[in-house]
Amino acid sequence: MKVVVVDNYEAMSAEAAKLVEEKVRENQEAVLGLATGSTPIGLYKNLIEGNKTRGISYKDVKAVNLDEYLGLSQDHSQSYHTFMKENLFSQIDIKPENTYIPNGIPASAEEECTDYEAVITKVGPVNLQILGIGTNGHIGFNEPGTPGDSITHVVELTKSTRESNGPNFETEAEVPTHAISMGIQTILKGEEIILLASGESKAEAIKMLLTKKVTEDNPASFLWTHDNVTLIVDKDAYQLVK
Ligand code: F6R
Repeated sequence: MKVVVVDNYEAMSAEAAKLVEEKVRENQEAVLGLATGSTPIGLYKNLIEGNKTRGISYKDVKAVNLDEYLGLSQDHSQSYHTFMKENLFSQIDIKPENTYIPNGIPASAEEECTDYEAVITKVGPVNLQILGIGTNGHIGFNEPGTPGDSITHVVELTKSTRESNGPNFETEAEVPTHAISMGIQTILKGEEIILLASGESKAEAIKMLLTKKVTEDNPASFLWTHDNVTLIVDKDAYQLVK
């Protein structure tokens, strides 16, 4: 794992954007694996800027997202469909039919998982996967205890994840209890992975990751089994690393 320590959130976002744009320049049909949450918003702002002013086109790029809440329709204000549309897809020239996110209200969640895994196999391999990290080390919605050989699956969200994501919802009862997420094995099939971490709240997770101990207790630790991972971390998130 290559570790790049930068000053702050803006520098992390710019550094990540540079790598994504390089990938899209060298392969105009690149398949990008994308994440939601607060971490990649700055990256996405940079990509929008690059699309508008630096001639980087996404017209033949495909995007597969990591996860979606179960129970939220595509047009729900807190769905990851809405997040991606608002923060990236509607502002670049990617074709909607080239963007893939699990369906949050499937007739059968199990079938949706099988179908989504098949979609990733069909459009993949993911050339560049973007990841954030949860305060408990989760990647995607793969919470501690998720096996390293997991593929797309239904996840019961932990209390800590529901609390972190809760403020976006009007009432606690509205915070989804389950999600569909790419599994750890699905994520590790990506050819290149960029893990982003910013802010003090991620310091414990980064400290744990950089012990290099691979364990189910820390889902992000499985990234040590992949040979092309770059962690871009800001000083606040790196502060507990000796
Ligand atoms: C989002 C995702 C999650 C987030 C993680 C960090 O698609 O898969 O693993 O990356 O929860 O979230 P933020 O960036 O909001 O701190």
